[in-house]
Amino acid sequence: LKKDKITVYFIDRDGDQIAAPAAVGESLLDVALNNSIELEEGEKTATEAKVNSTLLDVVIDNDLDIAGFGACEGTMACSTCHLILPKDFYNKLPCPPSDEEQDILDMAFGLTDTSRLGCQVYVTEDMDGLEVKIPVETSDVRNIS
Ligand code: FES
Repeated sequence: LKKDKITVYFIDRDGDQIAAPAAVGESLLDVALNNSIELEEGEKTATEAKVNSTLLDVVIDNDLDIAGFGACEGTMACSTCHLILPKDFYNKLPCPPSDEEQDILDMAFGLTDTSRLGCQVYVTEDMDGLEVKIPVETSDVRNIS
């Protein structure tokens, strides 16, 4: 039986800013430990994702409120749809990023080894239960001169 809808979880950006006193020469890890800073996981939202739609479509279809997301409407010009995928899913994706996608990703804030543009990743049946992270910050690369 083929599914035409699956569940994808979006993990929110956690925009909390925490001020922490730091001693000169201290490592950032020590600053975090000495101030008992816990890096919280953002909130997780379950969405209904249509097979063959893009992750950008899923965000739009489910009315997810992600500031600035998808600013170029999927024309691979902005990088605001940057999402971070779990490694196993990233490796299983049918298509690696095209050169064009990679060029935009290279300009995205907080690029990771498993980053993709949400407008370029199509939902497949085996993505059921996928958890994607929304990066803390995004940039619209059209504004970078
Ligand atoms: Fe702009 Fe994906 S929506 S690059």
